[in-house]
This record gives sequence, structure tokens and C-alpha cells, in this order.
Amino acid sequence: MMHTLLGTTQIQVSKLGLGCAPLSVAGRPDRGQAIATIQAAFESGITLFDTADTYCLDDHDLGHNEQLLQEALSAYSTEEYLIITKGGLARPNGSWICDGRPDSLRSACELSLHTLKRECHPLYILHAPDPSVPIEESVGALSRLQEEGKILHIGLSNVTVSECQRVQQIAPITCIQNRLHLHDRHSNDVLRYCDEHRISFIAYSPFGGPSNSIHLQNHPVLSELAQKYSASPYQIVIAWLLALSPNLIPIPAATKPSSIQDSVRGMDILLDEADLLRLTNIDQANTPT
Ligand SMILES: NC(=O)c1ccc[n+]([C@@H]2O[C@H](COP(=O)([O-])OP(=O)(O)OC[C@H]3O[C@@H](n4cnc5c(N)ncnc54)[C@H](OP(=O)(O)O)[C@@H]3O)[C@@H](O)[C@H]2O)c1
Repeated sequence: MMHTLLGTTQIQVSKLGLGCAPLSVAGRPDRGQAIATIQAAFESGITLFDTADTYCLDDHDLGHNEQLLQEALSAYSTEEYLIITKGGLARPNGSWICDGRPDSLRSACELSLHTLKRECHPLYILHAPDPSVPIEESVGALSRLQEEGKILHIGLSNVTVSECQRVQQIAPITCIQNRLHLHDRHSNDVLRYCDEHRISFIAYSPFGGPSNSIHLQNHPVLSELAQKYSASPYQIVIAWLLALSPNLIPIPAATKPSSIQDSVRGMDILLDEADLLRLTNIDQANTPT
């Protein structure tokens, strides 16, 4: 397993994380399978687990995913893994809405501390900027929680370069979590920004999300490369993502052990320059969605 330091911190994590959302949202597996998947990830060498208070069915189910992680990893020492959680969304009736008001973020952060049974979040991420709240106000709330010792490091998610620049005027940022996969490169500029500012870039939905991921099996270029490198198409995607930047940490999701065990093996594949370029140049307009 390859490791990396988060941003400019001394926190070391595996260079591949487990994204845990599908273990708790609609269509989730039963609890036993969810816990087995998390434990399989850990046993495969993954030490970074991505969650959020709102990875659940709706507002009555808040913290479902955090509870799962807490339970699944309780057999291991907390020094051996890092759970990163997020706040700033709400799930009324199962929908997703932004809520970046300072008071809401404080409540969310404190509830997550309680659920995860800890006194301080090593890394707490603003899930998304709230269009009705200036991002400085949302991050200002996180800075106050940091001063109180409830958050060690702050991260952002779903942000633009200009939002990162605004936030960096008021608080140091350790990581940015944005969507990045073969068919979505909208965050390329954010990745470059992270590289220049020693911020970790956590690539979410690396396979295009649960409903799109199935299409990767039939992708012509991926199938060809999978055969060439004796790998799965998913491993090829992981190898390509890791080659984009030493700062990039993909967080593929899985709802069964075999998926994450397969993805981990993608870290051992070294694609040659021509194949990397081929993947980077895949025509996004002609790819399955
Ligand atoms: N910050 C944000 O706003 C945000 C938004 C979206 C996601 N995220 C984070 O990013 C994580 C990952 O993104 P995602 O959940 O959208 O989906 P994803 O990682 O793009 O795709 C997950 C799907 O790919 C399948 N899969 C994974 N590895 C596989 C393999 N080796 N072989 C075959 N199938 C494989 C899984 O199948 P099985 O289910 O069959 O195992 C799963 O359904 C989330 O869980 C969450 O932690 C963050």
C-alpha cells in the first residue's frame, strides 16, 4: 500500500481511500455486508475512510454511515486509520440541500463528534458551499470550532479555484474533495491549484458514481488496457488517477468486499506514458454516461 501525507500535515494515510456513501444511502446493503466491506478495505491496507453526517436515507437517519464506520473499525486502534467526515448539507425527506449556516455547521460538527465517539475531528470538510451563505461565513464557523479544539484541520468539497482562494484568506486548507473521473474533468484547474498550494486533492466518484460505474466494464479503451495490463477496467482507472498527481487520493466506493479488494490492486499498475495520454484524451462527448 502506498501512503501520503495530507496537505502540509503529518497525518499519513493510504493513497487510496474508501468512499462510504453507498453503504448508507438508498439501495444500501444490509449492515453485515456494509461492515464486511469496510473491514475488507482496512485489511487490504486502506486507512482513509470518507463519510458525512448526511450519508443516510433522510434527516431521521443522520449519522448512519458514521455509525457504521465507528462500529466496523472499533476492533482496530484509532491510530491506524482516519475517518474524515463532512457537514453542510441536510436531507429533508431524502433530498439533498445545502445548509452552510454557522449554527447548522456547529450542530452538525458536534453531532458527528458524538456519533464517531471522539472529541476532535482530525479533518472536517465543508460538504459544499451554500449559495445563500458566503463561504467565508461557513468556513469562519469551522475556524471557531478549530479554535475550540473540535476540529484539527479543515477541508472543502465541491469548490472552485476562486472559492479556494477566498477561503485561503481566512483559514488554511488541508484538502479539497471534488469530483474527478474519466468523463468529468471540471476540477482539473482545482487539482492544479492543489498541486501548487500543497493541498491534498481527494477525487470523489472516481468511477462516475454507482449508477455509471457499471459502464466502465464495456468501455472500449479501458477493456483494451485491462487486457494489456492483466487488470480490471477499474484498476486501470485507479492507476490513471494516481498518475495524474502525487497529491491525488481517489476514494472509490464499494458495497461488497470484492470491489474494494479489486480497486486496491490498481495501485500496483504502472501505465506507460502513451496509455496515460490516451486515457487523459478520451473524448468525453463520446463516452457512456
Ligand atoms: N463530496 C461530495 O459531494 C461527494 C459526492 C459523491 C461522492 N463522494 C464520496 O466519493 C465516494 C465514491 O464515489 P461514489 O460513491 O459516487 O461512486 P464511485 O466510487 O464512482 O463508484 C462506486 C461504484 O463502483 C463500483 N465499483 C467500485 N470498485 C469496483 C471494482 N473494482 N469492480 C467493479 N465495480 C466496482 C461499486 O460497486 P459495488 O457497489 O458493486 O461494490 C460502486 O457501486 C462516495 O462514496 C463518497 O464517499 C463525495
